Amino acid sequence: MATGTREDVVDLLLKQHEEIRALLDTVERSSGERRKQKFDELRQLLAVHETAEEEVVHPYARRKFGGDGAVDEFLDEERKGKEVLKRLEQVETGSSEFLPLFRELRASIEAHARHEEEAEFPQLRIKGSEDELSGMATLVKAAEAVAPTHPRPGVESQAKNLVLGPVAAVVDRAKDAIHKARS
Ligand SMILES: [Fe+2]
Ligand SMILES: [Fe+2]
Repeated sequence: MATGTREDVVDLLLKQHEEIRALLDTVERSSGERRKQKFDELRQLLAVHETAEEEVVHPYARRKFGGDGAVDEFLDEERKGKEVLKRLEQVETGSSEFLPLFRELRASIEAHARHEEEAEFPQLRIKGSEDELSGMATLVKAAEAVAPTHPRPGVESQAKNLVLGPVAAVVDRAKDAIHKARS
């Protein structure tokens, strides 16, 4: 945390990257019902985390230190990650197809997280004021609270997320509630 009790957006995103890495590891190592449950958690965290970055963090980075191409690379990596995640959603976690595809997802997500940590987060700390960094932490949490919980490759821009996000989020959250009630 930057100072006092205010949360800084970089701390928040780093904490989520660590949760994502831990879940990637747990899903790969587990089996049966636990793998299914942990994969659901991972899918949900990845979907809301990337949406919040696309709505709040990357547009700010582009405004503050855009022009170096990194933001376009992040959006491209996020689209590729969502495509693999969407394919994985169609596969049973216990089937023989799951692990090879999951390892592809893991490599893509880990490389993307490292890229943001090296090329974006340090710049946010340098260029952002304390107020901006704590304000963005609040915005990221608000965006995550209403974000879709399933991946939608092709919806990476801030504008598309804001148009399609709310409807998709209601549909996803209803589906999740029904799924939970049945299991
Ligand atoms: Fe990202
Ligand atoms: Fe991220």
